[in-house]
Amino acid sequence: MNQIKPNSLAARDVAYHLHGYTNAVRQEQEGPLIMTEGKGIYVYDENGKAYIEGMAGLWCTSLGFGEERLVDAAIRQMKKLPYYHTFSQKTSSVTVELAEKLIGIAPVPMSKVYFASSGSEANDTVIKMVWYYNNALGRTKKKKIISRQKGYHGVTVASASLTGLPNNHRDFDLPIANILHTDCPHYYRYGQESETEAQFAQRMADSLEKLILSEGPDTIAAFIAEPVMGAGGVIVPPAGYFDLIQRVLRKHDILFIADEVICGFGRTGNMFGSQTYKMTPDIVTVAKALSSSYLPISAVMINEKVYAVLRDNSGKIGVFGHGYTYSGNPVCAAVALETLKIYEERNIVDQVRRVAPTFQREMRRFADHPLVGEVRGVGLIGAIELVKNKQTRESFAPQQGIAAQTSKFCQELGLITRGMADGMAFCPPLIITEAEIEEMFRRFAKGLDATWAWVREQGLVAA
Ligand SMILES: Cc1ncc(COP(=O)(O)O)c(C=O)c1O
Repeated sequence: MNQIKPNSLAARDVAYHLHGYTNAVRQEQEGPLIMTEGKGIYVYDENGKAYIEGMAGLWCTSLGFGEERLVDAAIRQMKKLPYYHTFSQKTSSVTVELAEKLIGIAPVPMSKVYFASSGSEANDTVIKMVWYYNNALGRTKKKKIISRQKGYHGVTVASASLTGLPNNHRDFDLPIANILHTDCPHYYRYGQESETEAQFAQRMADSLEKLILSEGPDTIAAFIAEPVMGAGGVIVPPAGYFDLIQRVLRKHDILFIADEVICGFGRTGNMFGSQTYKMTPDIVTVAKALSSSYLPISAVMINEKVYAVLRDNSGKIGVFGHGYTYSGNPVCAAVALETLKIYEERNIVDQVRRVAPTFQREMRRFADHPLVGEVRGVGLIGAIELVKNKQTRESFAPQQGIAAQTSKFCQELGLITRGMADGMAFCPPLIITEAEIEEMFRRFAKGLDATWAWVREQGLVAA
């Protein structure tokens, strides 16, 4: 990868393509890793080298690569009706079926589904719905939305504002007005000395309430949360957290939005993360595993309380003035519908529950490693947090690039994993077998040992 051959795919990529979430200077120097094929949990680069996709791409290819039924579903729908839209009381038959199916499996009673193409668009749509809802109710001040530090909700102007990570705001002039961030509920990082997990959860809820009271409850419209925070570092909520948070929300008449873009469709060992953590949201967003990411599709589910207000207001105005060209695209909907059928037929939730103990056990074996501060996870998602000092929990300086270095060693060993801050994340396709999980962590063990040797060579820790 260091030597970019003239006229190679890598050279052409460097010449013509601006990548998201990439250091463009490093991309020019080193070039990209180019994948050409995928099968099961493996992807293959242009030289035929195989990698275990430990992240299911971007937490998304739940059925792995090369699922023929999804390919066939797309082809069938392409031939039948490749495009239709959902504006002005029109739709396609398969979009109707998908909406019905989603309402049928929603974690709590939901009334309607709105379709978009990405998680960011879904969350953007939610912000607009929440504002529209409160305007319709005459609560014109009730507009602020509270998200969390380290929450991840997308990158469009509004959804990036919800995202609570510095790089998504810095030099983009974000966040926009009316978006607030409350504490990140990471007990290992932010728990105080001698504070129990239960006390920490209570402090998180108290802090949220303090923010609401200081802003004025009549100005707070909604609270958004991922059941398990993904890009912020795979942060599993402390016990009791969502129960306490929801009490605060109910007290102040604040809508609850669950961002199930990663957790939805089995990841945490239930169909939805909301079920794992006993959340009762008014609005749920899904994407990624909805179609196993074979085609872009996302959805917003809203309950009857929200829908009834939107319906009446659109009647009053004459239209619900929002909609994307690709909302409910029939080919994407057909692939999503087939994905949900596969989940049902193969009982994906049971499959996750069957292999998750192996995944969690194998991951937790790293807890004793000198570089590992915390191992955390639930179902088939987890992270191994790397620290400079196990006792004090001190992190490496960001410029030391510990996670990037670990990813690089793992990549050489045929494993794709990514560092979320200093948490090495694992979120493999849900179809992974126990033997494949063991192989994934065998490769990670070698990568971590290589990092440990590198850290000592570089003098980043006391020898
Ligand atoms: C929880 C969550 N919400 C929203 C998004 C944004 O989705 P997209 O990248 O499809 O816009 C992501 C993407 O990783 C996510 O993890």
